[in-house]
Amino acid sequence: MGFSIHWSWLAALSCLLCMGDEVWCDCTEERMQIVGGDYILTKQLKIGSMLVYQCPEGYYPYPHLTRLCELNSSWNPAPKRFLPQRCKRVECPDPNVMEYGNISPPQEKYFVDNETTYECYSGYRLRGSSRRVCLPNGKWSGSTPICSRGSGDTCADPGIPPGATRTGSIFGIDDKVTYSCNGNLFLVGSSERVCQENGQWTGKEPACYYKHTYDTPLEVSQEFGSAIKGSLTTLESIDDTQEGRTIRISKNGTLNIYIAMDISASIEEQHFNDARNAVTKLIEKISSFSVTPNYEIVFFSSEVFEVVRILDFLDQKIERNAILTQLKNFKVGERNTGTDLNGVFMTFLERMAIIKQRVGAELFKEHRHVLIFFTDGAYNMGGSPAPTVEQIKNTVYMNQTGVPAAQSREEYLDIYIFAIGAEVFDSDLQPLATGIGDRHYYKMKDITNLQETFDDIIDEEEVTGLCGLHKEYETTRKESTRQRYPWWASITVKNEGLPRDCFGSLVTPKFVLTAAHCFTFGDLPEHVKVVIDDGQGKEKKVKRFILHPEYNITAKRNKGVKEFYDYDVALIQLEEAVNISSVARPICIPCTQETSDALQLVGESTCKEQEDILLKDHLERLSFLTKKGTTVAEKDVHAKIGDNRDACIKHALGAQGISTKDPKEVVTDNFLCTGGQDPTRDHISCKGDSGGAVFKNYEHRTIQVALVSWGTKDLCGSGGGLVESDQTSRDFHINLFRVVPFLKSILGHDTPDYAPLTFLKS
Ligand SMILES: *[C@@H]1O[C@H](CO)[C@@H](O)[C@H](O)[C@H]1NC(C)=O
Ligand SMILES: *[C@@H]1O[C@H](CO)[C@@H](O)[C@H](O)[C@H]1NC(C)=O
Ligand SMILES: *[C@@H]1O[C@H](CO)[C@@H](O)[C@H](O)[C@H]1NC(C)=O
Ligand SMILES: *[C@@H]1O[C@H](CO)[C@@H](O)[C@H](O)[C@H]1NC(C)=O
Ligand SMILES: *[C@@H]1O[C@H](CO)[C@@H](O)[C@H](O)[C@H]1NC(C)=O
Ligand SMILES: *[C@@H]1O[C@H](CO)[C@@H](O)[C@H](O)[C@H]1NC(C)=O
Repeated sequence: MGFSIHWSWLAALSCLLCMGDEVWCDCTEERMQIVGGDYILTKQLKIGSMLVYQCPEGYYPYPHLTRLCELNSSWNPAPKRFLPQRCKRVECPDPNVMEYGNISPPQEKYFVDNETTYECYSGYRLRGSSRRVCLPNGKWSGSTPICSRGSGDTCADPGIPPGATRTGSIFGIDDKVTYSCNGNLFLVGSSERVCQENGQWTGKEPACYYKHTYDTPLEVSQEFGSAIKGSLTTLESIDDTQEGRTIRISKNGTLNIYIAMDISASIEEQHFNDARNAVTKLIEKISSFSVTPNYEIVFFSSEVFEVVRILDFLDQKIERNAILTQLKNFKVGERNTGTDLNGVFMTFLERMAIIKQRVGAELFKEHRHVLIFFTDGAYNMGGSPAPTVEQIKNTVYMNQTGVPAAQSREEYLDIYIFAIGAEVFDSDLQPLATGIGDRHYYKMKDITNLQETFDDIIDEEEVTGLCGLHKEYETTRKESTRQRYPWWASITVKNEGLPRDCFGSLVTPKFVLTAAHCFTFGDLPEHVKVVIDDGQGKEKKVKRFILHPEYNITAKRNKGVKEFYDYDVALIQLEEAVNISSVARPICIPCTQETSDALQLVGESTCKEQEDILLKDHLERLSFLTKKGTTVAEKDVHAKIGDNRDACIKHALGAQGISTKDPKEVVTDNFLCTGGQDPTRDHISCKGDSGGAVFKNYEHRTIQVALVSWGTKDLCGSGGGLVESDQTSRDFHINLFRVVPFLKSILGHDTPDYAPLTFLKS
């Protein structure tokens, strides 16, 4: 693609002027050999040709990756006699940074195919991979092993990736950890992560890269796929059915996508075609989402060739299906040898300024900007793009950086950099990548796999095996609420008398979990309405419902408990499986293999281990949902476990219809207790919240640990919503870990009717 930073395109011109005799200008192949490898020349031995060394898989060229034929007919860098060019075995970053455990074998350096195993000191538990292999792209297989023990911290130990150093070892709310890479490694990903109230770290785990480290096409399609989907789905319009008619609801806001492809060294027609096909594929992928972005697409060398103009979208001068035609018809004639990366950023900045001027500052606030660059970063004219990137940030952020997250506009700008080429200028390029959350910098060896990579971006609909997967958007819009709680179901039972409203949770494509007390004697499946707002006809037909066999509300009437809610669980089987999508997906439930996977437990795991992770603290922060208008809001509570439990359940005696003196008669060990004001004021449940999931998020997955059963006081009135507890109001939730045999008897049952969940042996 590009040329060394020292190369000047002016130089190329002057060469032609002064030489006349081309031979004079040529470099020679003398001393260019590489031990164990080969090389290719981009323009034979002519001035400006790049010599690219090639090594077999698992090796990389050392000390140099490329050389450039300079104006004075010599190679830069020049070969050195005492440091012959050779193919060196790829090295992986040092894994011996792991805390509280042992790595075997202990080595000073680790090379391709070297295998390592990880064990934790006693009392510590391993998360991540227990065995890792050094891969030919310079990365370790699997995920970072982390040894930790239940510390009561809000966030889990984020670990230390190989080759890195971490500062910060307290993991409470707002605590920060920072990472740097050792030696000649450089850091890709979040160098700083902050523990959030929901128990998640901001950003993504960083990684340390050598100059010879690359991302595989699979990694890129998975990670970039997830990132770009985040950008696309925030504005995705959804289908809504109203009075039997499906209408498409578009959201406020506009998505502007700017794509820039470096073609500076694309002397070969094939390279240019690959680049164009990759861009085409990306646009096709984007169009599979129901968003309609405006596009600016440019190819660049020293000039910027504007293939699709974003201003045409503004003027409505372009048909959306014309984008691909324009791309297909675009041809570049003579290309010169410079690379003006800054020129491209300037072009994008100018377009933004014009858009802002046209639509006005107020509407411009609703514009999101996604910039995608494909380059090796070897710009040689126009200067560094860094100041222009700052200007772009100012334009989009509207000078609101540094203000509290709620008002921050950082989510309105993403700059993705695909660093592609034999020699990439990481240190120049990496700082240009911008955006919150997912990784924004990717490094690939060549462009040939890019089309496939984009084609492989997995569709949300295909990731069916992952329970609890969800998106975390900080908005109150109805569609994003669905993506945040894709398992949420609302249930209405209407037989005789007033309809009863409950919540439920999708636990498999065919089953909804809810409370047994939502049903009364005489109810039949046709009395039950289950609504899962998945945009495909919300109401789901019910085949049958099954109450826990030991549920008996009158069981303790003669012991001073008018209504006894032990085993208050029920499963509703749907007639037809729900189609899994970003707005309809099962939540994880205890003691299943799916949940162990979500918790990243390695090897054979047990229910107890899951419970230790999910309900480990004496005050475990949990959530459940409540109705709010036509959508839902999240209630925050603390389950009082261990020493705190007795003080919590004693308030059960204050509830109506209780005359026993022993709280344990009313609240068995099958319940979790929340509410009250000590040490923090919890939310309290309202009537319609019954049957809903009490859940906890863990690394972007949601796990249901309990379900809302009953409470001591009705503080809600008719409105419901986010009501706070008083001193003595308490809620009791069925702990799912205590009703596993019931769940397993139905959900783990292998029948031709539905696919079973895999329950753990113990
Ligand atoms: C050729 O030019 C390059 C860069 O301009 C310089 O570093 C190098 O020393 C020169 N080589 C010779 C043999 O003059
Ligand atoms: C690690 O890889 C190097 C280079 O291939 C090899 O010489 C060494 O024996 C390997 N070590 C182990 C423990 O496999
Ligand atoms: C969406 O647009 C409408 C009308 O233009 C406006 O009143 C409303 O405030 C906008 N909503 C958001 C979330 O910006
Ligand atoms: C940002 O602030 C500077 C001065 O503080 C001002 O000149 C500039 O116009 C502002 N930019 C935007 C986009 O508001
Ligand atoms: C519920 O418990 C009461 C009291 O022990 C008992 O009389 C009744 O038969 C039980 N009902 C069922 C359905 O088991
Ligand atoms: C699932 O999707 C298919 C195809 O889009 C559709 O025919 C079917 O009715 C859907 N099923 C449900 C339960 O929505």
